[in-house]
Amino acid sequence: MTELGDIIRQEISVCGPISFARFMELALYEPTFGYYERQAKQIGCQGDFYTSVSTGPVFGELLAFQFADWLQELGSRVTSPHSTADEVPAAPHSPAHSLESHFQIVEAGAHDGRLAHDILSWMNTHRTAFPQQIEYVIVEPSPARQGMQRKMLSKFTCQIRWVPALDKIPATSVTGVIFGNELLDAMPVHRIGWNSRENCWFEWRVTFVDGGFRWVRMEASSEAKSSASTYHDPTLPTELTSVLPDGFTTEVCPSASTWWKRAAQKLQNGKLLALDYGLTHYEFFNPSRSNGTLRAYGHHHVLSNVLDDPGAVDITAHVNFTAVENAGVSAGLVTIFSDSQAGFLTGIFKRTIDDPDRFTPWTPDRLRQFKTLTHPEHLGRSFKVLAQATHQYSDRRISSGG
Ligand SMILES: C[S@@+](CC[C@H](N)C(=O)[O-])C[C@H]1O[C@@H](n2cnc3c(N)ncnc32)[C@H](O)[C@@H]1O
Repeated sequence: MTELGDIIRQEISVCGPISFARFMELALYEPTFGYYERQAKQIGCQGDFYTSVSTGPVFGELLAFQFADWLQELGSRVTSPHSTADEVPAAPHSPAHSLESHFQIVEAGAHDGRLAHDILSWMNTHRTAFPQQIEYVIVEPSPARQGMQRKMLSKFTCQIRWVPALDKIPATSVTGVIFGNELLDAMPVHRIGWNSRENCWFEWRVTFVDGGFRWVRMEASSEAKSSASTYHDPTLPTELTSVLPDGFTTEVCPSASTWWKRAAQKLQNGKLLALDYGLTHYEFFNPSRSNGTLRAYGHHHVLSNVLDDPGAVDITAHVNFTAVENAGVSAGLVTIFSDSQAGFLTGIFKRTIDDPDRFTPWTPDRLRQFKTLTHPEHLGRSFKVLAQATHQYSDRRISSGG
């Protein structure tokens, strides 16, 4: 048994079976032995999985191009007759605006800092007013990860501010963009199952028996129950529940919805953006997903048991984009884009073609990266994008380019 396995086992021996969300939290984020706390390389060909960032810098550059347009548009809401073409005009100033720069780009889940590096490199080259007007904020709870990011981003440190938690950013203080790439899918989920006899959800909790971690079917805890009822029960028609087989299993992720709602509250004016693999609410109930979407990955393989080897493997579940979108709407945001990553990136791509002077030339290698990001059999279809905007800044919806 690994040291982390031992920590989890001890917690179970004191508290009884724990929720899967607690198991996942310890497996990924236990401060010393958690998967994301280790110095190891988790992403890329030597790691356990790929993300869009691992395909090359084009992903970050397309995002940077989009962010620059959003900030330009945001700034142009205040007439600024002296601004030049690549200059971002001054932001509408709010009394609650406590940060020094006009605009902020806030990234959460920055991991090793590679995406921030790609975005900042492009912005500094192509939007030269950037250093004076925009502050890049990284939300990073882990001191170990922050250390790795500081190394990767050493040449940009005067443009970056690190905060250990979203809560450290004052409410309505951000004018700009808050975003995360594959952030929400790494948040702890509850695993719930359908009790067809009693027409209600039960919870799969984790216990320790015969030298290993095992699933145990128990009555749902109040947290799992309330998130199940928030995101599942009320919208499930009886046509569906009457055919849902006993034991049909899925996940609920209250931490993703809570995070999104809190992020929405940080925006004075601007956008909230998630790029992640996930599904809409009803897609979770496809018969092919009767065992849910929870997966463990090691060395680019899906592992047979997510409870084996906590701390040594990645654990992830699909994001429920309907639940996240609802959380944003309940915080007053308006959805401006909800579709595939292919649609989102192709829309940006088209604008770079229409206006080639404003983007890096499309070489064959860069086009190959773009195809990997957008091809349905690579990252184009399984990855989705949700963009929401504050009310005063929501009249320009993005059309899908796919
Ligand atoms: C799957 S990795 C994505 C990494 C990177 N964005 C990319 O696309 O290559 C998920 C990252 O989110 C981080 N993370 C999870 N919850 C977080 C939170 N509440 N705030 C900030 N980062 C978080 C993890 O530590 C991990 O580095």
